[in-house]
Amino acid sequence: MPRVLVTRPLPAGGTEPLTDPAGPGPPCEVVQRPDDAPLDRAELTAALADGYDGVVCLLTERLDAGVLDAARGRLRVVANVAVGFDNIDVAAATAAGVVVCNTPDVLDETTADLAFALILAAARRMSEAEAVLRSGRWTGFHIDEFLGRDVHGATLGLVGYGRIGRAVGRRAAGFAMDVIHHTRTPTGDPGWTGDLGDLLARADIVSLHVPLTPATHHLIGRAELAAMKRTAVLVNTARGPVVDEEALAEALEQGVIYAAGLDVFEAEPAVDPRLLAAPGAVLLPHIGSATVATRTAMARLASASARAVLAGDLPPTALNPEAVSRPLQ
Ligand code: NAP
Ligand code: GLV
Repeated sequence: MPRVLVTRPLPAGGTEPLTDPAGPGPPCEVVQRPDDAPLDRAELTAALADGYDGVVCLLTERLDAGVLDAARGRLRVVANVAVGFDNIDVAAATAAGVVVCNTPDVLDETTADLAFALILAAARRMSEAEAVLRSGRWTGFHIDEFLGRDVHGATLGLVGYGRIGRAVGRRAAGFAMDVIHHTRTPTGDPGWTGDLGDLLARADIVSLHVPLTPATHHLIGRAELAAMKRTAVLVNTARGPVVDEEALAEALEQGVIYAAGLDVFEAEPAVDPRLLAAPGAVLLPHIGSATVATRTAMARLASASARAVLAGDLPPTALNPEAVSRPLQ
């Protein structure tokens, strides 16, 4: 019976695909940690040395080359309950004969909803206005209070135009927005630009939808913020390190851009105190995919992917199919 470590509690029914008697392959023995705290590097290494065929983990677990090396031999699959997989060294996993899976598609619409919520909240100063109301400082309607920027009719610049970027673009149609997008590869769709600077100069709202890779680390830094309109809004639901937070805090403090909506941070769960204090910042604790239905679907997809690999199948979520052809070491 394959043994699978599930590193954190998951939504109800999330691990069912691992134990479903209907298969594929034999049901797994599931060892699930009841503790809803991330495993650190030493704990992860020790846990994997315990002998598992599969791991279902969250984006809070970092499976680097050292950790994967320690698990070398028995481990066959790591299934991340997230679409982003920057927490896993996929090349090291391939070298160790470990298939890595993620959860594409099932969270696109939910994450796009949240990105659009941040666009609206940042452009219309919702957090700032609500804080004044909640603190009892609201003195009544004023003609010039909390004046924001219109979202309808604005130009939306999507950096990254994959599954989630496109879903945000679909929402923009309902707001009569002009949508432009930047990727490295031409998409063939109207509004594409291969020049990030061009997008930043034209967009009223810039929304980030790229994966975190060496090429996207600090993709938005001081120079890029300076290239944006002074009235612009920046939204980041991708990964914290895609934005240089120090440069962003400075840009908000100095009015280089108008506002920012952030769901992700460079050193989660720590948030730069300058961002906490920055005018125009709307800050959320990484809840892009956080609905009951979507988090359940993500957990079930990761579990089903792990089960499939352990049954000798290659699920469509496999990021490194070449890992299966490598001899186990
Ligand atoms: P995807 O379908 O793979 O799309 C990624 C897009 O980024 C593609 O259009 C890709 O086009 C572009 N891209 C990649 N590298 C680039 C670069 N260096 N410069 C410009 N564009 C680049 O990914 P997705 O499913 O939409 O997810 C995107 C990311 O969102 C995930 O990786 C994850 O980190 C994040 N996410 C966050 C949450 C949340 O809770 N906040 C939820 C889900 C996902 P090219 O390759 O042609 O450049
Ligand atoms: C969440 O951040 C994800 O990548 O799924």
